Amino acid sequence: MSCLVSLCVSLWLVALVARTSASSDEDINVLVLLPENNSYPFSIARVKPAIEYAKQGIKANGGHLSQLNFNIKYRNSECGNHALFALIDECNTRTDLILGPVCEYAAAGVIRVASHWDIPVISAGALAVGFDEKNPEYTHLTRVAPSYMKMAKTFASLFDQFSWKNAILIYDDDKEERNCYFTMEGVYVILNAEEYNIAHLTINSKEDKLDADEIVKSLHSEVVVICAHADIVREIMLAAHRRRMTNGSYIFFNIDLFNSSAYGNGSWKRGDKYDKEARAAYSVLNTVTLLRTVKPEFENFTIELKKSVQRPGVRDCKDCDNVNMFMEGFHDALLLYAIALHEAKKSGYSKTNGSEITRHMWNRTFEGIAGQVFIDTNGDREGDFSVMSMTDHEAGTYETVMNYFGINRTFQMMPGFNSDKFLLHGRSIAKAPSDHVTPDMSSCGLGVSAVTGIIVGALLGTALLMAFYFFRKNYRITIERRTNREEFNAGKHRQLREDSIRSNFSTA
Ligand SMILES: *[C@@H]1O[C@H](CO)[C@@H](O)[C@H](O)[C@H]1NC(C)=O
Ligand SMILES: *[C@@H]1O[C@H](CO)[C@@H](O)[C@H](O)[C@H]1NC(C)=O
Ligand SMILES: *[C@@H]1O[C@H](CO)[C@@H](O)[C@H](O)[C@H]1NC(C)=O
Ligand SMILES: *[C@@H]1O[C@H](CO)[C@@H](O)[C@H](O)[C@H]1NC(C)=O
Ligand SMILES: *[C@@H]1O[C@H](CO)[C@@H](O)[C@H](O)[C@H]1NC(C)=O
Ligand SMILES: *[C@@H]1O[C@H](CO)[C@@H](O)[C@H](O)[C@H]1NC(C)=O
Ligand SMILES: *[C@@H]1O[C@H](CO)[C@@H](O)[C@H](O)[C@H]1NC(C)=O
Ligand SMILES: *[C@@H]1O[C@H](CO)[C@@H](O)[C@H](O)[C@H]1NC(C)=O
Repeated sequence: MSCLVSLCVSLWLVALVARTSASSDEDINVLVLLPENNSYPFSIARVKPAIEYAKQGIKANGGHLSQLNFNIKYRNSECGNHALFALIDECNTRTDLILGPVCEYAAAGVIRVASHWDIPVISAGALAVGFDEKNPEYTHLTRVAPSYMKMAKTFASLFDQFSWKNAILIYDDDKEERNCYFTMEGVYVILNAEEYNIAHLTINSKEDKLDADEIVKSLHSEVVVICAHADIVREIMLAAHRRRMTNGSYIFFNIDLFNSSAYGNGSWKRGDKYDKEARAAYSVLNTVTLLRTVKPEFENFTIELKKSVQRPGVRDCKDCDNVNMFMEGFHDALLLYAIALHEAKKSGYSKTNGSEITRHMWNRTFEGIAGQVFIDTNGDREGDFSVMSMTDHEAGTYETVMNYFGINRTFQMMPGFNSDKFLLHGRSIAKAPSDHVTPDMSSCGLGVSAVTGIIVGALLGTALLMAFYFFRKNYRITIERRTNREEFNAGKHRQLREDSIRSNFSTA
């Protein structure tokens, strides 16, 4: 390995000497690490046109940025260790910038090595909480898509706004890419830190047959948050409806960041005999998704991307012409790098100083393809999210009822917003008669939840050993108490580390 590194170093020193002779135009070697398999919304075939569009845009701009020549290589990262191998295979040419990987486990290894080699990494993925802590392993990572932690802040603000106190998080963990696990981890970490009472329930739809009724029977929290495939969400909602839990005593959410079209209007509809029930059940289901903004330039971007995807040679690419957040993100990534490099060069640094360029990408606002992009001081993009709800119960159509702006942590209520849907009816109000919740009583939020925390803590104190409940051995509910929280979080981070270095152990 050290021999490999020194080879790399000597090669880029040669490249450095060669480069200084031609100073006006500068070659930038970009390595894009994404999966080839088009079942991923961030496959090479989908994202490549967006990156090429950005490259052309930078060239055509005419300004100082147009002196940059991007040599872009696309390598298959798959979703596991392959990404790291692809990076190491490329070590005989100096890489100035890495775009991707998106999958958490693929990203972990690549970012560690890249940070060590002083190469900036920009990704529209690597959204897990484990990457929030940039030091010491992920120092060169900049995230151009809002992380799960940013998304979770939407929930923290919702809880505060509507004075909810407890929640159960239901997620499908496939034990492979674990998207829902990482999504819920963010929600868990934030809500727990704010002293809400959070339980979670894991299902594994690959291994176990789903028993939605069993799940629904075990729900005792006011707020139910689900992350799972659309079919599973429907099963759970139907079961909840049959148990009359959709009458306002519970508030349901599902999280679907990347394909909100999967929810919205048609999601309850399957053309089976349960459609009518499902439509009624979905009237209390709210969907949290990314807020998509569009500006005029975006139109051209969309048209160009559609053209490239329809070219012959692109196979097995279902709805590849839908522009998604990953395409936007990687477009903006190249732009962000160009801006940061330009600034770094102005202050006398060269493209080889990855940490300096990374520093220029953080704490900055720039104009992305779809709108303003805010990168915070930790190198993560601020995110805006929407809450969608059914607004026409007859037709069963959905609309965005609230927008959440991460930059100033405020909600914008849309015309379809109906506060009644977000206030708890029934048990919680019956328990606390003085608890006349109005949306703007947020100052009481902390006090109320702290008090509830103590009561719940006392109730649970006697059941300290009963942390795990088994339901027919299929579903596991863990009630986390505050004393366990630290361990739980550390465990999750450790898991991300261990899983991604496992291969080192097995070859040792
Ligand atoms: C792509 O991924 C899907 C789902 O993970 C899998 O079923 C399929 O076989 C993969 N295709 C290729 C060519 O590897
Ligand atoms: C988005 O959701 C729709 C509707 O369920 C589905 O047909 C489509 O394949 C999904 N797209 C992606 C990229 O997952
Ligand atoms: C749902 O349908 C209504 C009316 O057809 C439309 O106005 C609305 O934009 C649709 N919403 C979504 C999320 O597709
Ligand atoms: C879109 O592209 C066309 C031609 O390529 C150009 O004339 C038009 O000004 C562009 N529109 C925007 C909003 O950039
Ligand atoms: C990069 O710049 C920083 C100052 O921001 C400096 O401390 C560091 O030594 C430089 N690294 C290289 C490899 O030149
Ligand atoms: C971020 O940038 C602003 C100005 O744009 C500056 O005032 C602030 O100190 C910066 N924060 C950090 C942590 O660098
Ligand atoms: C928060 O930010 C959004 C988007 O930048 C803006 O539209 C909104 O007016 C801001 N709200 C407040 C209260 O500043
Ligand atoms: C909703 O149904 C539950 C029984 O499942 C009942 O306890 C509760 O009082 C009902 N709430 C309302 C508002 O009707």
